[in-house]
Amino acid sequence: MKALVLSGGAGTRLRPITHTSAKQLVPVANKPVLFYGLEAIAESGIRDVGIIVGDTADEIMAAVGDGSEFGISVTYIRQHAPLGLAHAVLIARDYLGDDDFVMYLGDNFIVGGIRDLVDDFRQARPDAHILLTHVADPRHFGVAELVDGRVVSLEEKPQHAKSDLALVGVYLFTPVVHEAVRVITPSERGELEITHAIQWLIDRECDVRSTIISGYWKDTGNVTDMLEVNRSVLETIETRVAGTVDATSEIIGRVRIDRGARISGSRIVGPAVIGASTEVVDSYVGPFTAIGECCRIEDTEIEYSIVLRDSALTGVRRVEASLIGRGVEVTPAPRNPAAHRFVLGDHSKVQISS
Ligand code: DAU
Repeated sequence: MKALVLSGGAGTRLRPITHTSAKQLVPVANKPVLFYGLEAIAESGIRDVGIIVGDTADEIMAAVGDGSEFGISVTYIRQHAPLGLAHAVLIARDYLGDDDFVMYLGDNFIVGGIRDLVDDFRQARPDAHILLTHVADPRHFGVAELVDGRVVSLEEKPQHAKSDLALVGVYLFTPVVHEAVRVITPSERGELEITHAIQWLIDRECDVRSTIISGYWKDTGNVTDMLEVNRSVLETIETRVAGTVDATSEIIGRVRIDRGARISGSRIVGPAVIGASTEVVDSYVGPFTAIGECCRIEDTEIEYSIVLRDSALTGVRRVEASLIGRGVEVTPAPRNPAAHRFVLGDHSKVQISS
């Protein structure tokens, strides 16, 4: 069995954190969301992984390399334009050959991995197996209609959804799907939809099974959701101190301090991660906080937040439920005039407590 991971897509950088980077590289507990997918694939025993790349190919290739760090062997497949999930399957035909495969969307996060699912699929070999989850607003997803537990119809981003069961971005296929992706035509949004390919299978009475899961997240640009997924992953970290902590600092609970990080005069209450080469000076870092690499946190209190690499917070009391991008600087304003001073990028959001 092989895996096909979709990490293409246009470089439309609309969301706060994907202005400057591929959405599959948005970090959850300091690790790109794509890496969790690759780890889950490796853990399920799959070694051969094709990764679809588009505009952001260089960034993805630099992050993943040949896959050896994940225990997989990666082949990159270029998609010249994001013409749809089924288009990705179409162009991967030679790579996939006649193997069964799991298709994994690189911006999706699934708690608990896919090992059992892959094992079950290997045993039962239905024509296709999809994952579903209950969502609050199904209009942003592919939506499944089930009758007596069987999938009877699928619709892509319907205005009036027939259920609240969204298609999760992990699909298992036998080679019969190649026939489906060849015959379907582009949707109204101009994409070859995998949803339509699966509907084609259903219409031909192929065996399409489904599993309803919980613990699912994808980058929708929703900060509240991102803080929550960050929190749930931090809940699972182990204490590991690879950096240095001075005698005046206190580390409480499960805290990971990566190589080259330096903690002085500070109190860190886990679960929290402090990225490599980050300095935390005279500060408090509270639960559910992920500070990226090469940051400086000085004279600051922060909790339940995400700070991406190369950012500096000085003299800020206190920061909560915040998502801070790369290379951001937050410093105290001069005393006069007593005013806030902002240089905020597109789509920034600021809440002032004074
Ligand atoms: O995330 C689950 C949803 O993913 C499903 O509920 C929908 O049925 C499915 O169509 C898909 O919807 P999105 O519109 O959210 O997919 P998106 O365009 O965000 O692409 C998902 C991933 O696949 C993302 O990592 C980019 C990559 N991609 C996307 C397209 C369209 C490619 O590599 N090539 C493509 O042509």
